[in-house]
Amino acid sequence: MVSTPDLLIRHARILCPDGEWLTGDLAIEQGKIAQVAPHIDGDGPHIDATGLTLLPGVIDPQVHFREPGLEHKEDLHTASRACARGGVTSFLEMPNTKPLTTTQAALDDKLRRASEKCLVNYGFFMGATPENLDDLRTASPSCGIKIFMGSAHGALLVSQEEQIEPIFAKGDRLIAVHAEDQGRILERRELFKGRQDVAIHSEIQDETAALNATKLAIKLADKYQRRLHILHLSTGIEAEYLRTAKSPWVTAEVTPQHLVMNTGDYAKIGTLAQMNPPLRSPQNNEVLWQALLDGVIDFIATDHAPHTLEEKAKPYPHSPSGMPGVETSLAVMLTQAQQGRCTVAQVSHWMSTAVAAAYQIPNKGKIAPGYDADLVLVDLEHSAPLRREEVVSKCGWNPFEGWELTGWPQYTIVGGQIAYERGVIHDQVRGHALSFGLA
Ligand code: DOR
Repeated sequence: MVSTPDLLIRHARILCPDGEWLTGDLAIEQGKIAQVAPHIDGDGPHIDATGLTLLPGVIDPQVHFREPGLEHKEDLHTASRACARGGVTSFLEMPNTKPLTTTQAALDDKLRRASEKCLVNYGFFMGATPENLDDLRTASPSCGIKIFMGSAHGALLVSQEEQIEPIFAKGDRLIAVHAEDQGRILERRELFKGRQDVAIHSEIQDETAALNATKLAIKLADKYQRRLHILHLSTGIEAEYLRTAKSPWVTAEVTPQHLVMNTGDYAKIGTLAQMNPPLRSPQNNEVLWQALLDGVIDFIATDHAPHTLEEKAKPYPHSPSGMPGVETSLAVMLTQAQQGRCTVAQVSHWMSTAVAAAYQIPNKGKIAPGYDADLVLVDLEHSAPLRREEVVSKCGWNPFEGWELTGWPQYTIVGGQIAYERGVIHDQVRGHALSFGLA
């Protein structure tokens, strides 16, 4: 029996771990969920959540937050504010910052920066280079190793099988791959030389380039029975390949963009729709959705990759690839649920529970006593369009501007603290470093 909860959420529609719903109250004590019940007594601080739906906070397992070194696009503070607005209570961040996150010292620096300025919980990938095998095995705490098999320049590009194989051969921590065949991309770039129509981006970095690299990563993972995660799966042919060739030690993710946007979006928003791996044809949306519904794809990540509007306005191919996503991903997916594509419980599984399980993050991803009080209250009754002037991310734009979205977060709670409350971001809230079972 809880007598004095630190915070009480009242009259919410609560998603339980079995996927069932309970209308009632949730008590938070010392940053943890203390009790979930139809009614809980208590006089302290409370949120009246009548009409709102309570979900575990989103864990976004692929973001690029640009600090250190690229803070003109985004930084850990501004990005974590965007997370709070979007219902994202934890993130896993990628190593392509300046300096690159390829050593223990660079990892420590990011962890220190995050502890000083992040409103939500954080974890960081180590970036593979052809030279840092020892750091990859020992640096800690890290959610895993990121290999850019393609679509990267400089030290983070590890595109040759002879360079990639030793990383799979030694160690046991999770390897996450950006699977695009760099050799094929370079050849195809020559074929399209001189053309500036951004739609050719999807033809240069084509479906075969993605499939080739995914096949190579799976071949190596199977050879060493190594824990492999395929980042932002973008094509139907990769999904169909995984359907037959996915071992128990392999997981895959998809972005909301690859589910609900396609090559038709170049005509609408031009280079703002440019990302790696690129958007595909509408048929790919359908196959990716089916693979997600069938469990071939395990979860969802945004690949939040902000660039300034000025940078994005450069003509292709000088325009950088990437779209921001943390503040819209949950609302985009809940809108899909409201439209009948999937259920709200499935969205929460893909954006929270399954991510915590895959990265072995303890005490997160479920609403149950003893779990961390990382929560989001969403409003499934109302919809509102996203307007550019409301965007929180430092980059100042979002690919879903103008989209009518249902399920906007009303409250985001991080370790029992209210980080976002009906349009107001509480900047003093701080998250914690995540821990990982395999770290
Ligand atoms: O479009 C992308 N942009 N894909 C990536 O993998 C990297 C990212 C970035 O950092 O801008």
